[in-house]
Amino acid sequence: MRTVDLIHRKRDGEELSPEEIAYFVDGYTRNEIPDYQMSAFLMAVYFSGMSDHEVDALTHSMLGSGSTIDLSGIPGVKVDKHSTGGVGDKTSLIAAPIAAAAGVIVPMMSGRALGHTGGTLDKLESIPGFRTDLTIDEFRAQLASLGLAFIGQSADVAPADGKLYSLRDVTATVESIPLIASSIMSKKLAEGIDALVLDVKVGNGAFMKRQVDARRLAQMMVGIGRRSDKRVQALITDMNQPLGFAIGNALEVMEVSQTLQNGGPTDLTRISLELAARMIYLGKIVPSLEEAREVAQKHLLDGSGYRKFKDVISAQGGNPQVLDRFELLPNATGAREILSPRAGYVSAIDAEYVGQASAMIGAGRDTKDEAVDPAVGVILEVKIGNKIDAGGVLCRLYYTGEDHVEEAAQLIEDAFRISANPPDQRDLILEVVG
Ligand code: URA
Repeated sequence: MRTVDLIHRKRDGEELSPEEIAYFVDGYTRNEIPDYQMSAFLMAVYFSGMSDHEVDALTHSMLGSGSTIDLSGIPGVKVDKHSTGGVGDKTSLIAAPIAAAAGVIVPMMSGRALGHTGGTLDKLESIPGFRTDLTIDEFRAQLASLGLAFIGQSADVAPADGKLYSLRDVTATVESIPLIASSIMSKKLAEGIDALVLDVKVGNGAFMKRQVDARRLAQMMVGIGRRSDKRVQALITDMNQPLGFAIGNALEVMEVSQTLQNGGPTDLTRISLELAARMIYLGKIVPSLEEAREVAQKHLLDGSGYRKFKDVISAQGGNPQVLDRFELLPNATGAREILSPRAGYVSAIDAEYVGQASAMIGAGRDTKDEAVDPAVGVILEVKIGNKIDAGGVLCRLYYTGEDHVEEAAQLIEDAFRISANPPDQRDLILEVVG
């Protein structure tokens, strides 16, 4: 097999066999195929796409490059939830405890903030003492006792994906639907799950800006999962404004606490409950989705989801009192109000700008190794459709150092559009795939 011939064939839109795809992934992982040839291959995939057979082969080659977690010794259906990333997206911290309170086993392998999007691990680590570096034995033991554990992705899960992702990042090939789908699914399939609920975000704060692309990504991931005998469903949800009001790690934990006590924002509560319901349904706790929605609602209203989250925080070394006493969380030292330049209706809030502004003052990171500041972020005072007076507060920026505050404030001002007429109502859950 000559590497250049395979690149040539992929460039011309031909289908490669599973053996040929495996040759690429294995050769690259073992440093036998150089970056320049892999880059050319990725660009060929970017332009030519991949068939279902090819994307399955790529997923399984990356999955096979590392270790997998065996959860078969734990009774119950194991269901994870994955979001493609957004701004203010803290649904994992709400849906997972609700589903676990209903009896689903939820092995949550989560990621960190990157660019303008947040990460579940950083949010959790804003809780003093919280450990996300559980060993696999600790992870299994907690899943057996509490039904929910949060862990970071270890280096030996799908290492080929890590290596390929770094190359995609510098070769303008991140935004390829088959490459994204196989990257996400290779890591999810390594977790020992039976089922998966995907939240594919679409809009100005998401990876996918167009619904047609979000749909293709969702269909591809659901297909990969199903062909691997997993039950998979995907929601396509709106990310044309931040989810909830809070953006930033500790600020989001506070909003999670309010939401798990049924006092959270409507949009966040709605999506979290729907995700939890689908986890409960795929977890076979009840036979229909309608019943699963009732079960999810019940575990929100009776406080059992909230108590489950507290138990998980304690088990992972954190102080559960932070959920009642927010002063125990890291707090910002300065606040800056962003005011509306005119009266009218909020017709747009660019989520990407808000995410970038929040990252700029320390809530996020540009490269994988940077630290985040858990205390800082943004609290919106309005959402799309709300009326505002001239000089009314649009949002507050919370910071711990003056650096970049001015720049972030400018970006946030640009994120808001105020119009004379109210905007059309937009759906939050746009489609279901699977
Ligand atoms: N998230 C991933 O894990 N991989 C991608 O390729 C894109 C987003």
